[in-house]
Amino acid sequence: MAMSSSFPSLILPKGHIKDGLYCAIRDAILDGRLSAGTKLPSSRTLAEMMSISRNSVLAALDRLLDEGYLITKPSSGTYVADIIPDQLIQIQSSQLHAIQQSAQTLNINPHIASLLPDWHKQTLSCQEKKMFHVGVGCIDLFPHQLWGKLLGRAWRQSYYQLGQFHDPRGYLPLRQAICQYVQSTRGLNCNEEQILIVNGIQQAIHLVAYALLQPYDQVCLDEPGYDAALNVFRSFGVMVQPIESDDEGMKVPEIIQHYTGSKLVYTAPSHQFPLGGTLSLARRFALLDWSAQQQKWIFEDDYNSEFRYGTPPIQALQGLDQQQRVIYAGTFSKIMFPEFRLGFMVVPDALVDTFSLAKYYTDTRSSYLEQVALAAFIQDGHYARHVRKVRKACYERQQVLIAAIEHHLSDVLVVQPTDSGIHLVCWLKEHWTEQDFIVQCSQAGLAVQPLSRYCQHSHQKAAVLFGYAAHTPEEIKVSIEKLAMQIQM
Ligand SMILES: Cc1ncc(COP(=O)(O)O)c(C=O)c1O
Repeated sequence: MAMSSSFPSLILPKGHIKDGLYCAIRDAILDGRLSAGTKLPSSRTLAEMMSISRNSVLAALDRLLDEGYLITKPSSGTYVADIIPDQLIQIQSSQLHAIQQSAQTLNINPHIASLLPDWHKQTLSCQEKKMFHVGVGCIDLFPHQLWGKLLGRAWRQSYYQLGQFHDPRGYLPLRQAICQYVQSTRGLNCNEEQILIVNGIQQAIHLVAYALLQPYDQVCLDEPGYDAALNVFRSFGVMVQPIESDDEGMKVPEIIQHYTGSKLVYTAPSHQFPLGGTLSLARRFALLDWSAQQQKWIFEDDYNSEFRYGTPPIQALQGLDQQQRVIYAGTFSKIMFPEFRLGFMVVPDALVDTFSLAKYYTDTRSSYLEQVALAAFIQDGHYARHVRKVRKACYERQQVLIAAIEHHLSDVLVVQPTDSGIHLVCWLKEHWTEQDFIVQCSQAGLAVQPLSRYCQHSHQKAAVLFGYAAHTPEEIKVSIEKLAMQIQM
């Protein structure tokens, strides 16, 4: 295809056009074919040059603007940024090239290959940073000794069971204990036959994509939203449709009006990730009605259900569902520790066999010993006690973080009020970009995350996320002071 003389030739890799154009422009920036300050052709010209739709061009440009590769100058146009984000997180274009080339020569599934560059960026950018990782609970408060004893007991009790083949859905006493627990604390409407033990919600998302979806199926999900869910769906070739939120949570009416072809809605209705809103009752019912009438599935990600401070827990969507359209997933990795890889799904009766099969062909079943120990941990009341302790500590840690930010960083950040969760969302004041702030955090050794990491579209307001639950009040104060000093330097 013909290109304008100053603009390099771009080759679109296989896969979605907008992702391909994003990669092609980003690579041209990283390997120097598009240098800092270069003006890009207009979206219309680019669309004509590449023979693709203008919407695809706009989507790719949006993402590049969001990630800081491009900037816009009012009434002038779009330019390559002076400082590109990959320089800041020290990933070299040659590395990206090597990743893409090896993906091609190794014949990797193109859906997975298209996720590799971001994967490398993310793993590199988080290395070595100690504080404020998003998604980690109060690991310091976990009763390690007691857990060691329960594991030892499980080992002695189940020694002869370890040579047996058990139900892929998991250890029955654990499923019974979970069933009772979620009925009383989350208002779920289920029996133990519907419970499936999985290796965290991440596996539940994977099983849903594996068992229910086909390439080119459409899934609606929260925008901003949980990136690891989005990427699982993408890795199966599923079309993902981001749905924004307003004061009532996810804009369900938009799904009902415009995305009737969607097969599944993935959402975290009790604590939207990452902004923390809740889905209003009216929208919960609208979503349930629509899914029942149109035979759609809803995936309810209840990852943060235990972490509410001022207000009582919100009843799960699954508990309101009369027609069995909701697939519910919960986790122990937040209350216990991230490396504890057990969670559970509650699936409609009609899907029990499907998910048993999917689990079996994925990893046959989850680790037996830990299931036995966890059943005892719940049945003996340790879990409920631990939840109370964690909730109190998290609230204190959150308050300390808010106070420290308001004291030291009020020129930079505005805290989003919240009474739940294990991370804090802070909006950046006008003169700050996410990229600039994250650079300061990185230099202070902090793993603070930009909101844009969780967005598919460019968003109006810049924000950052601080995961606080894993740190003592003293550690939180010291880190925020350190960041404030770093910023003043
Ligand atoms: C919104 C959301 N859903 C699901 C998960 C995955 O949870 P698990 O550790 O159970 O796989 C996370 C992890 O951070 C999350 O933030």
